[in-house]
Amino acid sequence: MSDTVDLQEEKVEPIAVESQSKRMKVGLSHKHLLGIRELAAEEITHLLDTAETFRDISQREIKKVPALRGRTIINLFFEPSTRTRTSFEIAGKRLSADVINVSASTSSVTKGETLLDTGRNLEAMSPDLIVIRHPSAGAAHSLTRVCSASIVNAGDGAHEHPTQALLDGLTIRQHKGRITGLKVAIIGDILHSRVARSNVQLLTKLGATVSLAGPGTLVPRDLAALVEGSGLRIENGIEGALEGADVVMVLRIQRERQESAFFPSLREYAVHYGLNLQRLSLAAPDVIVMHPGPMNRGIEIASDVADGSRSLILDQVANGLAVRMAVLYLLAGGAVTPAVST
Ligand code: CP
Repeated sequence: MSDTVDLQEEKVEPIAVESQSKRMKVGLSHKHLLGIRELAAEEITHLLDTAETFRDISQREIKKVPALRGRTIINLFFEPSTRTRTSFEIAGKRLSADVINVSASTSSVTKGETLLDTGRNLEAMSPDLIVIRHPSAGAAHSLTRVCSASIVNAGDGAHEHPTQALLDGLTIRQHKGRITGLKVAIIGDILHSRVARSNVQLLTKLGATVSLAGPGTLVPRDLAALVEGSGLRIENGIEGALEGADVVMVLRIQRERQESAFFPSLREYAVHYGLNLQRLSLAAPDVIVMHPGPMNRGIEIASDVADGSRSLILDQVANGLAVRMAVLYLLAGGAVTPAVST
């Protein structure tokens, strides 16, 4: 690859990627994106700044730049996904990469092939990046042992979902102008949530205070050990977490991961822990409401909150595309100076 990356289409104003950050002349110092835990605060900011730049491309008439021309990306999804799989595919295509989608149901996994053998076989076709979603924590790490491609974790069990936290961080920063000093409430099924784990890392590294709340059976007390300092609080009731919150993130009840009864019924969950307008009134007047999707309307979130004026749920999806373009770009091509050719 040359030492410049062309980010312009014919007759379209070029994007000056390096203008957004003092550190933009370097890519990520990591070969893979496995979790937010491994990233320093300045690397997270660098990713968010790069994503800001890529957001503009989706507003153009021709939504394509040649930045990753000649690169091959494999999306390997062992779990259902609407937002993440689609946005990784669109992100790769808008960067002009060759994108191949492999799902568990159409792969030889159904014939008994292991994850590592699948990885070895994909590696034999020389991809540059593999994006993986898998129900087991650590699956993305495992692929790094057998693949020389960069591995992007698109959600591994209850471990991490780094691009979700990045798109959440981008959405908060866009609407609040900052992350430092904000009070963020994350409510619901924390126990099974990779979104919560990645967001706790990202938000506390960037200086927010995070309060976790939900049914006692779904809020593991040992999560506090994940974070240095006092940036993370575990609340007993959701009202305490909502009080004065600048940001409320509602998590999905993961019925597919509930191997035992963590609460009596979905109806009781909605009554005691669902986010409705009355509970939301405890938060700051300019609170923003987020949900990673897919939503269980009427269970963890009432429709008038999900569709209300404080909701940024679809903004999150739009920002997901920009974040995934930034991640693919920085891992596959961003280690070079992204200068603009004229
Ligand atoms: N937020 C999220 O990961 O959604 P999908 O499962 O649809 O990808």
